[in-house]
Amino acid sequence: MDLYNEENIFISNHPLIQHKISIMRKKETGTNEFRRLTEEIAMLEGFEALADLPLKEVEVETPIETCMTPMIAGKTLAIVPILRAGLGMVSGVQALVPSAKVGHIGMYRDEETHEPHPYYCKLPSPIEERLIVVTDPMLATGGSAVDAINQIKAQGGKQIKFMCIIAAPEGLERLHKAHPDVQIYVGHLDRQLNEAAYICPGLGDAGDRIFGTK
Ligand code: PRP
Ligand code: URA
Repeated sequence: MDLYNEENIFISNHPLIQHKISIMRKKETGTNEFRRLTEEIAMLEGFEALADLPLKEVEVETPIETCMTPMIAGKTLAIVPILRAGLGMVSGVQALVPSAKVGHIGMYRDEETHEPHPYYCKLPSPIEERLIVVTDPMLATGGSAVDAINQIKAQGGKQIKFMCIIAAPEGLERLHKAHPDVQIYVGHLDRQLNEAAYICPGLGDAGDRIFGTK
């Protein structure tokens, strides 16, 4: 399967995103810088991911004259981070769309089986009318993303985009197969997973690096 040619998969080649990801990878990059880079990459990816937002013409009075001018149409966005690490991307997308509502999906990976364990889900209503942007920096086996999107669809979510910073080919393929209708935005596609289902070369545990735990 040639993932690069699949519809609904968008893998960034933007130099700013690649540069910032390289700094995140360094093991000496500390929590403050790591968190700031997570936000900045989310904003850059969000700029691309939201390029198809619908517009409507509205009347505006400038200091010179009245004109019709485009503004974002429709219900506001829902940003839905997968806890914990997805939280680090929220402010970057919110900076672009300050009116966005934020839902949360709590999930952790079992260290042995690598299967996701959901523990929380709260989405802004009416979820079926919103464009939903799911955020998680790491798409590894894809289990967490697939399960999170299953939960969103079960609650009525229809138009869904998924944004991550680093993906493994295994996770990208699994997510695309499970949810071919979901547009997937990837900052960088890495080589593979290791035996512990960590992304190689990756950046380690994103949640621990964002929140300074471990
Ligand atoms: C990490 C990451 C993803 C998940 C990816 O979260 O933030 O949610 O692993 O792995 P997968 O694609 O194999 O499911 P983790 O479970 O470590 O929880 P945390 O964010 O609370 O640290
Ligand atoms: N979760 C992470 O935070 N990093 C990985 O490499 C895989 C899953």
